[in-house]
Amino acid sequence: MCGIIGYVGPRPSQDILLAGLSRLEYRGYDSAGIAVIDGDGGLGMRKRAGKLAVLRDDLASTPLADGTTGIGHTRWATHGGPTDANAHPHLADDDKLAVIHNGIIENFAELKSELVGEGVTFRSETDTEVAAAMIGREYARTGDLVSAFRAVVSRLEGAYTLLAMHEDHPGLVVGARRNSPLVIGLGEGENFLGSDVAAFVEHTRKALAIGQDEIVAITPGGVEVTDFSGAPVEVEAFEVTWDASAAEKGGWSSFMAKEVSEEPEAVANTIRGRIHEGRVEIPELDGMDEFLADIDRILVIACGTAAYAGMVGKYALETWTRVPVDVELAHEFRYRDPVLSPRTLVVSISQSGETMDTLMAVKYARSRGAKTLSICNTQGATIPRESDAIVYTHAGPEVAVASTKAFVAQITALYLLALHVGRVRGAIDPVVAVEAVTELEAVPGKIARVLETEQTRIEQLAHWMADTRSVLFLGRNVGYPIALEGALKLKELAYIHAEGFAAGELKHGPIALIEPGQPVFVVVPSPRGSGEMHKKVVSNIEEIRARGARVIAIAEEGDVAVLPAADEVLRIPLAAPMFEPLLAVVPLHIFAMGLAEAKGLDVDQPRNLAKSVTVE
Ligand code: AGP
Repeated sequence: MCGIIGYVGPRPSQDILLAGLSRLEYRGYDSAGIAVIDGDGGLGMRKRAGKLAVLRDDLASTPLADGTTGIGHTRWATHGGPTDANAHPHLADDDKLAVIHNGIIENFAELKSELVGEGVTFRSETDTEVAAAMIGREYARTGDLVSAFRAVVSRLEGAYTLLAMHEDHPGLVVGARRNSPLVIGLGEGENFLGSDVAAFVEHTRKALAIGQDEIVAITPGGVEVTDFSGAPVEVEAFEVTWDASAAEKGGWSSFMAKEVSEEPEAVANTIRGRIHEGRVEIPELDGMDEFLADIDRILVIACGTAAYAGMVGKYALETWTRVPVDVELAHEFRYRDPVLSPRTLVVSISQSGETMDTLMAVKYARSRGAKTLSICNTQGATIPRESDAIVYTHAGPEVAVASTKAFVAQITALYLLALHVGRVRGAIDPVVAVEAVTELEAVPGKIARVLETEQTRIEQLAHWMADTRSVLFLGRNVGYPIALEGALKLKELAYIHAEGFAAGELKHGPIALIEPGQPVFVVVPSPRGSGEMHKKVVSNIEEIRARGARVIAIAEEGDVAVLPAADEVLRIPLAAPMFEPLLAVVPLHIFAMGLAEAKGLDVDQPRNLAKSVTVE
C-alpha cells in the first residue's frame, strides 16, 4: 500500500519525483523519501517520517544535489513504525545502491538472519532493507543491477514491487514485481515507473502494464522487460484515458468533495457505450454469450465498500438473470474451501484493482476452475489482468481514501452486467429490461438533484452533530447494504462508532442500543408499489423514536407517511425501488464527509488507512 515512482531522462528528477509522490500519497502517507544520482555521479538520499510535506520542507531547507535519475516512495508502514530510519529508500553496497518497495516480503526474517550471519548490519526494522542488502550483495559480485535483481527476486516470498538504482549506472532504474502493482510510463527521451499511472500521467499517457514475476529496466531511450528467468516478454500497452487535472482537486476543498460531486458523471460514464436502442450490450463481454447462458451460480467477492456494492448488485443480478448469487468478503472466501465449478462466475469488484485480499481470492477461484470477471476502476491494474473478463467502471481517478463515486459506478456496472446476462439468458422480460434501462439512464440526473437540493442541509446537520459519539444506520432489502456503507464511511472518516443493521433485525437485539438522543439514519423504501416494506420500516422508526432515538430518514420526495415519524427527512427523487440505493447513498457520503470536516479531520487521508490495501 505504498506509492512508488522512478524516473530516467534529461530533466532534473527531484521535482518530478515529488510531484508524482503527491499524486500517489493516497496509497500511503506515514513517511516519504527520494534518492537521486546527482550530476557528479554520487547517490544522494533524503527520507522523513510524516507526510510528503515534511520531506518537501526538509529538502527546501537542506537541498539535495539534483540529477536526472531518481526514485521516490511514500509509505504505509507494515514492518517497523513510521520513522525516518524505516522510511524508504533503503541503501546498501556502501550506500551506492538505493531500493524502494511496495508490499510485504514474508520470508524476510530468515533472509535477514542469513545476512546478519555474514556480518551485515541493519539500520531499520523493515523487510525492504533486507531486500536492499541482498541486491547489494549480488551487485557487488556481478556489477550488473538486472542480474542482481534476478538472483534475488526468486528468493523473496510474498508480495512486492521493488525499484532500485546504483550510482555506477546513472540513467538506469530497475524494477521487479510479484503480486503488487507496477506500470511503465513511456515519454519522449524519458521513461517512468510507478505504482499506478497517477505517478506520471502529467508527463505521458502512454503506458505499459508489467505482468507477474517480471523485471523491467528503464533508460531514457528504452525499456526492457524480462521474466524472472531472463527471457524477454511482451508487455501490454495502454493509453491512460484521464489527464493529470482529473487527479487534481480542481478547486474543491478535498478530493472527496470533488469525487462526491462527480458521482453523476461516474454513473453516466460507466453506462456510456453499453446501451444501444434500449438494450444493454457490454462490448467487453462479446464472445461470452455461450458461457454466460450456461452459468449456474454467480459469486461476488470484494472488500469494504466494494463488497457493499456487491450486496446491492445481488438484488439486480438475481432479479434479472435468475441465477443464484452469493456475495462474500474476499478474505473469508479464500479460506473456506468453497464449492466452485466451471459453471460458476466469480465477479470481483475493486476500485484499485490491487486489493491483495481480492486479488488472492480471484487467483484462488481461477485455480479451482471458476471463470472470473473483474469490475475495476483502474486500467492496467493487477486484478483485471488476472481475470478472464473485465468490465471497467469509468469513474475516473478516485484519490480520496473513502470510496464514493467508484461505489455508485460499481453498482451501475453490476446492473449493466445483470441486464446483459439477463438478456443473453432470455431470463428478463424485454419490457422490464427497457424500463430498467430507462431508470438507469435517469440516475445521473437524479443524483445531481440530490446534490443540488440536499447537500447544504446535510452539511449543516453534520456540523450540528459534530460531537456525536455513535450513529446507527438502518435499511431493508436493497437499502440494507446502503446502511452498511453509511456506517463504514462514518467510521473511516469521523473515527466514531457507527453500525449498520438490517431494519428487520432491530427487534432481534440491536434495539437495546437505543437510548434518548441516539442518532439513527434510516433508509426508507418507496411507499409506491407494494409498500409493505415501507410500512414495516416506518414502524421501525416509530419503535426507536418511542425509545428516544433521533431519526434522520432518507425518503423519496412525496413520502408523507415518514414525516410524523422522523426528526429530519432528507429527500431523494422518485425512482424504481431497485435504483433507490444509488440515490440514498449520496446523503450518507455527504454526511460522513461533513462530520469529518466539522471535526477538523483529514477527509482525504484518514488515519491508519490507505487507498489501496495491497497487503493481506
Ligand atoms: C472504502 O471507503 C474503503 N476505503 C475500503 O473499504 C475499500 O472500499 C476497500 O479497501 C476495497 O478497495 P478496492 O475497491 O480498491 O478493492
